[in-house]
Amino acid sequence: MMDHETIKRAYAILSPVYDFLFDKVFYPGRVAAINLLEIQPGDRVLEVGVGTGLNLPLYPRDCDVTGVDISEGMLRKADERVRTYGMTNAKLMVMDASKLEFPDNSFDRVIATYVISAVPDPVKTLLEMRRVCKPSGHLVILNHFKSDNPIIGMFEKLLAPVCTKIGFDTELKLMPLLERVALAPEQLHRVNLMNGWRLVRCINP
Ligand SMILES: C[S@@+](CC[C@H](N)C(=O)[O-])C[C@H]1O[C@@H](n2cnc3c(N)ncnc32)[C@H](O)[C@@H]1O
Repeated sequence: MMDHETIKRAYAILSPVYDFLFDKVFYPGRVAAINLLEIQPGDRVLEVGVGTGLNLPLYPRDCDVTGVDISEGMLRKADERVRTYGMTNAKLMVMDASKLEFPDNSFDRVIATYVISAVPDPVKTLLEMRRVCKPSGHLVILNHFKSDNPIIGMFEKLLAPVCTKIGFDTELKLMPLLERVALAPEQLHRVNLMNGWRLVRCINP
């Protein structure tokens, strides 16, 4: 398990090449995830672990997007993207996802893409996402979770050493995680290459 300082160092190194590695292959999941948020005009949206902001151009312009991340290196790239796209509705903040500095019920929509297995404490992070999301708000998570499929399991094993190097927990399972934070999937989809990533929407109780 990586601590925050190690994560910051890892993503400072990764940030210049992140878009090259994580843009194209993971793009279908991004589009599906933003669509699943079903953002309404005027909604306040929080993106946790926004990284270099690859999702930012996908948000409608008539909502307010706040992106938080622990890595300043990743946020610098996100900031460049905000400027490039002239996104006056987007705000970026350095913040730990497991200690969100927002009052309860601050957002209509909360999303984390390719993040929940990359944070040191997925349970705390999800509890924080729940806390800052309004009741009946949408929580969307897009991530790879440990599969029960033996073929995908084989690929997971092959990729595990690389994944753990950049802080991904390859053992994380979706349903036990959701149960621990008292969330139930309202919609569940499979996306990206070989349908290997799970896209889940929960309605905040
Ligand atoms: C694989 S990247 C995903 C970035 C982005 N969500 C995307 O879809 O491309 C994981 C991100 O989680 C961030 N992260 C890891 N631990 C975090 C924490 N405790 N709080 C906030 N962000 C964190 C990393 O800095 C990194 O930007």
